[in-house]
Amino acid sequence: MQDNAAKTPVTGKARPHESAPLHVTGTAVYTDDIVAPAGCLHAYVLKSPHAHAKVLSIDISACYIPGVHAVMTAKDIPGVNEVAPVFTGDPVFAEGEVLYAGQSVLAVAAESIDIARRAAHLAKVEYESLPAILDVHEALKQQKFVGDPYVMKTGDAAAALKSAPHRISGTLDIGGQDHFYLEGQIALATPHENGEVHCWSSTQHPSEVQHLIAKVLAIPDHLVTVEVRRMGGGFGGKESQASLIACVAALLARKTGRAVKFRLDRDDDMIMTGKRHGFHIKYDVGFDAQGRIQAMDMLQLVDCGMSPDLSNAIADRAMFHADNCYYLPHAVVTSYRCFTHKVSNTAFRGFGGPQGMLAIEYVIDDIARHLALAPDAVRRANFYDAMHARKDRAVTHYGMDVEDCIIADIFDRLEKSSAYKSRVAGIEKFNAENPVLKRGIAMTPVKFGISFTLTMLNQAGALVHVYKDGSVQLNHGGTEMGQGLHTKVSQIVADVFGIPFDRVRITATNTSKVPNTSATAASSGTDLNGKAAEAAAHTIRGRLAEFAAQQTGDVPPQDVKFADGMVTAGSKSWLFRELVNLAYMNRISLSANGFYKTPKIFWDRAAAKGRPFFYFAYGAAVSEVVVDTLTGEYKNLRTDILHDVGRSINPAIDIGQIEGGFVQGAGWLTSEELWWDAKGILKTHAPSTYKIPTGRDIPPDFRTALYDGENIEDTVYKSKAVGEPPLMLGISVFLALRDAVARAGVPMPKLSAPATPEAVLRALNGHGGDI
Ligand code: MTE
Ligand code: MOS
Repeated sequence: MQDNAAKTPVTGKARPHESAPLHVTGTAVYTDDIVAPAGCLHAYVLKSPHAHAKVLSIDISACYIPGVHAVMTAKDIPGVNEVAPVFTGDPVFAEGEVLYAGQSVLAVAAESIDIARRAAHLAKVEYESLPAILDVHEALKQQKFVGDPYVMKTGDAAAALKSAPHRISGTLDIGGQDHFYLEGQIALATPHENGEVHCWSSTQHPSEVQHLIAKVLAIPDHLVTVEVRRMGGGFGGKESQASLIACVAALLARKTGRAVKFRLDRDDDMIMTGKRHGFHIKYDVGFDAQGRIQAMDMLQLVDCGMSPDLSNAIADRAMFHADNCYYLPHAVVTSYRCFTHKVSNTAFRGFGGPQGMLAIEYVIDDIARHLALAPDAVRRANFYDAMHARKDRAVTHYGMDVEDCIIADIFDRLEKSSAYKSRVAGIEKFNAENPVLKRGIAMTPVKFGISFTLTMLNQAGALVHVYKDGSVQLNHGGTEMGQGLHTKVSQIVADVFGIPFDRVRITATNTSKVPNTSATAASSGTDLNGKAAEAAAHTIRGRLAEFAAQQTGDVPPQDVKFADGMVTAGSKSWLFRELVNLAYMNRISLSANGFYKTPKIFWDRAAAKGRPFFYFAYGAAVSEVVVDTLTGEYKNLRTDILHDVGRSINPAIDIGQIEGGFVQGAGWLTSEELWWDAKGILKTHAPSTYKIPTGRDIPPDFRTALYDGENIEDTVYKSKAVGEPPLMLGISVFLALRDAVARAGVPMPKLSAPATPEAVLRALNGHGGDI
């Protein structure tokens, strides 16, 4: 299983997460664990009770109860009342109008959270309720969007649909998902001399938080420092939406002159922060007798909520993944970024990709059922041409050549290792013998594009210091959210110097060490920061090599060896720390920064053509489920996964990402149901009503393996990104449930996501999609 790993002393080894002992002993410091400065205050935000209303008046006079130090509304903001990441539309505090139930209206800083909460609710806010748009259909009718509609197309889909021998159409509803990171949104801000502000923020994007704190306070960026040692999970939910929390804390800190902590409890976190986007999909597809797609017309209605946030890029990625692994000779994909009076939806692991991919996988199953063919055969018939094979079926609907397609090989290997064929026969037998319980199975592929689709964001910086004792301190622009980024980057740097892992210490991500960073997102953390850190370490190593070569005169600098904690220049060797100390005495700089930008990528937005991705990551999963046809209850019995991480930098961490991603994806598509009432109030805002997967939802038989291959592109150690792609392996569970429903006697089942037991029961009764 580890054969595919990079072959270096530290990189490529399955080693624990750098903070694992701290995690399991409860000594890892999260933002809430930081010892608070004396006099630290606590913040609470008053939320709008209406999805859409005019704010007629706000009277805060009753809020000043004992223990309250400040109350702030929009008019108290010294700078701009805006925390939007790209466009505008995300005020810190509502001004004149509220656009979702849960929007922040004002904030209180007090000596305890209880006092702050009580005080906030003493404010008298008068609203005039207005009609709300609560779904994408209404938004489309009223033409209310958060961005312009966008189309990607290739060939002539309309003509090819007409001439196709077979044609089917349908719709699919896909629900959103709450991030449910274990650590909720939190920030701790402290005011300093000269108007400086320091903020510990649980954010995937410290540079953006820095920039936005500066904007709301009307001060330059250089007065603001943002720091994050680790998050207890982000999953995209802290890519843009940690900013509001941090800005509220910073505003109140500035106003009171005290440290302010702002921590959302679980209910407030679920009500106030955006989720994965719900989608409504409409498809019309033409194909031949083998199930080969000839043309596809797909419409994606995206529920963006009340502001653009990152929705346009997310909707783009859903369009980029409307093909998944399949060649579409003629296609048109149309996307509407619908405005609704709901919390602004945001990044979530996969960033729109999962919704686009689920849709085409659903379509492929329809095609197979329509033609009475095996779904895996129809999948194979449509795969992009394999790597190095004929290339006439290897270009996407957005004009990118698929140069690295290994999905056919992954499918073959997984089919064998999971005994897929014989298990299908076993399922048929089981179902024939059992009138109530019905089994189903699905094998689904994943192809996920790696890079930020906004080319500019694909850059990273790092800062490496070697101290006189030979220990190394490392900093880079990426953030640690549990995914193991810091472990991987430390491994890479250890190997550059030929020293053991524990000689490298990574410190909190800090905007004063590495500036102008991108969010840790798009699964690119290691690709970008690993390369930047490697470059920084190489700069120092180059200086040391030159110095060592001068000492002996035996060999040129490039032949100086760094291995096993030793440096060797021809006839002479030093301990790494000895050479470092000697270099210091000879006034050689032992600190360097590094920079990296991803090559080859470009995107022409007007033409909707280009190469938005450096490469693709692949994978496949087989899941087998059993459904109780009387109740709709089900179990996932077994999942087999074969996933492509290129050459693994750390197989233990990669397998953890794959297993965790799969379970999170399966949770999205099965038990996690967001439910708003007719007034647009989210009613599922706690684990009592919103069910995330737990240990018991992990399939009892769960087999994960890494595909033995390497990235054809020049990534760090030929590895591939692993953060998001495995989430989409969870699609196999959804389609296995749909397969079980079909095998129970519903020929073309309609099943919307999430496939809760209720949804499965509706599908069994023949009206699954009608919700
Ligand atoms: N894994 C853990 N444990 N916690 C997280 O919050 N976020 C995911 C993924 N894996 C996440 C995670 C998301 S959404 C992304 S984009 C990547 O990690 C980001 O990290 P990377 O680029 O270093 O893979
Ligand atoms: Mo991940 S959704 O790109 O933070």
